[in-house]
Amino acid sequence: MAASGMEEERVSGEVRREEEEDDDVPQLSAAAMDALREFLAEQQRPEEQAEEGGGGGGVELLAEDWRMSQFWYDDRTARALVEEVLRLVSPSGSGSAAGAVACIACPTLYAYLKKTDPGVPAQLLEYDERFGQYGGDFTFYDYNRPEELPVAMEHAYRVVVADPPYLSKECLEKVAKTVSFLAQPEGSFLLLLTGEVQKDRALELLNVHPCGFRPQHSNKLGNEFRLFTNYDPEDRLDGWDLGTK
Ligand SMILES: C[S@@+](CC[C@H](N)C(=O)[O-])C[C@H]1O[C@@H](n2cnc3c(N)ncnc32)[C@H](O)[C@@H]1O
Repeated sequence: MAASGMEEERVSGEVRREEEEDDDVPQLSAAAMDALREFLAEQQRPEEQAEEGGGGGGVELLAEDWRMSQFWYDDRTARALVEEVLRLVSPSGSGSAAGAVACIACPTLYAYLKKTDPGVPAQLLEYDERFGQYGGDFTFYDYNRPEELPVAMEHAYRVVVADPPYLSKECLEKVAKTVSFLAQPEGSFLLLLTGEVQKDRALELLNVHPCGFRPQHSNKLGNEFRLFTNYDPEDRLDGWDLGTK
């Protein structure tokens, strides 16, 4: 906040000097000053988050951009997801990954996965082009064009994890199309992270049930979030929670 504070001071200082020098120069109204202060504070926020590490627990994360509905998992959530995904891609526990992972709009999971096991084949499908830093592991993805993806990705993933940007029916329907595009015809493991409010739609569209495990974010969200899976993880992730309404 120090920089924006200085900026405010600089702006009001300039206004004061200009008042003294030339009364005809247009001056910022109180409302315009408020808007400017808000703008400067918003510009400052992503840098502060990056400096604070965004709750990444040793994994480097970019600053959240809330205009793109970016809310990163907290460390505990990211680690729990990684543990589960690594188990699913390499069920023998031999260390050699038997399948690939598609991370739809969940860059934190991708970053933690690669930090934990750099050899795991994983693809990040993301709208935010800053993640182009992951090179060939990044695929630009807009949920509005759910199947506009490279042919090589069709039915190529043993594990598909999705965290859609919005809690709307339309968004989930489109993401469900992407999931079908990526999943293997013989069946893939699906993990969906979204609001509790999507529970019925998620079951209808993707045949997933909520788990007992509660995902959380570095910046606490007002909505109740759930992890849904198309398989019962039993003693992991607190199993399926079929009792909740
Ligand atoms: C709710 S966040 C999920 C992030 C996840 N919690 C994590 O920590 O990795 C939604 C994600 O959707 C992405 N997104 C925003 N607009 C999108 C769009 N039009 N199509 C696909 N993804 C989009 C954002 O960049 C963001 O990473």
